[in-house]
Amino acid sequence: MAREYSMDRRAYLRTVGAAGASAAIAGCLGGSGGGDDVIVPGTASGFPPFEFTENGELVGFDVDLAEEVIDRAGYEVGDWVDVEFDTLIPSLNEGDIDLVAAAMTITEDRDETIDFSDPYYEANQAVLVQEGGDFNPSSVEDLEGNRVGAQSGTTGEDEVQALIDEGIVSESDYRQYDNYTLAVQDLENGNVDAIVIDIPVANNFADSRSVEIAFEIETGEEYGLGMREDDDRLSDVNDALAEIEEDGTYDDLVSEWFE
Ligand code: ARG
Repeated sequence: MAREYSMDRRAYLRTVGAAGASAAIAGCLGGSGGGDDVIVPGTASGFPPFEFTENGELVGFDVDLAEEVIDRAGYEVGDWVDVEFDTLIPSLNEGDIDLVAAAMTITEDRDETIDFSDPYYEANQAVLVQEGGDFNPSSVEDLEGNRVGAQSGTTGEDEVQALIDEGIVSESDYRQYDNYTLAVQDLENGNVDAIVIDIPVANNFADSRSVEIAFEIETGEEYGLGMREDDDRLSDVNDALAEIEEDGTYDDLVSEWFE
């Protein structure tokens, strides 16, 4: 039921989005983004269930949430831009996209170059290993002498970097990936021993691939939608987010994508 509603909604928004995009091209000669009435969302797929591709279509919790937020905030949804995670902030600041919806953790560093909406999801990191394999670490110390992977530019990578700084993981054993789908593939194939990744996504991969969660690293992260610092549409986005949380739409999306 919930899924059917949101499929219809997605189809509807795609139509509106396309019309919005051409209106933007017509009305916007120079200047960044798609004009003030259009918000062009950007993400980095390969991070299920937040954003991933299914039969060539971009889908996921963040996709539905962002479209709903943009719509309720009174703007038109532009065409989604799907790039590598570490290029999202530059793309935003260059005006190629107007909003980042990519399970992006609100961090002090990022907050210096972009603005974040109010938090919309909480997560810790998890360590993924091969399912039923010989390597069963129960703490970060157990990762010593092993090859550890993460996606470039993520807070998972920050955790691995901290382990390198502490001398637990050696620099040459760090495996950096453009996305976590590739990392999980390498883990299944035995080309890396462990992956540090956000726990909701670790759970998703554990359900669908031959990998399992070995242990959790408590990082207490909060995800936010990212916007340019000078974009005053952020307050409308926050109002829409609050409305969606209050009227049950947020919970519907959670049960659609996480259960
Ligand atoms: N939450 C983590 C971070 O902000 C990982 C996000 C990765 N997102 C993605 N769409 N690949 O760094």
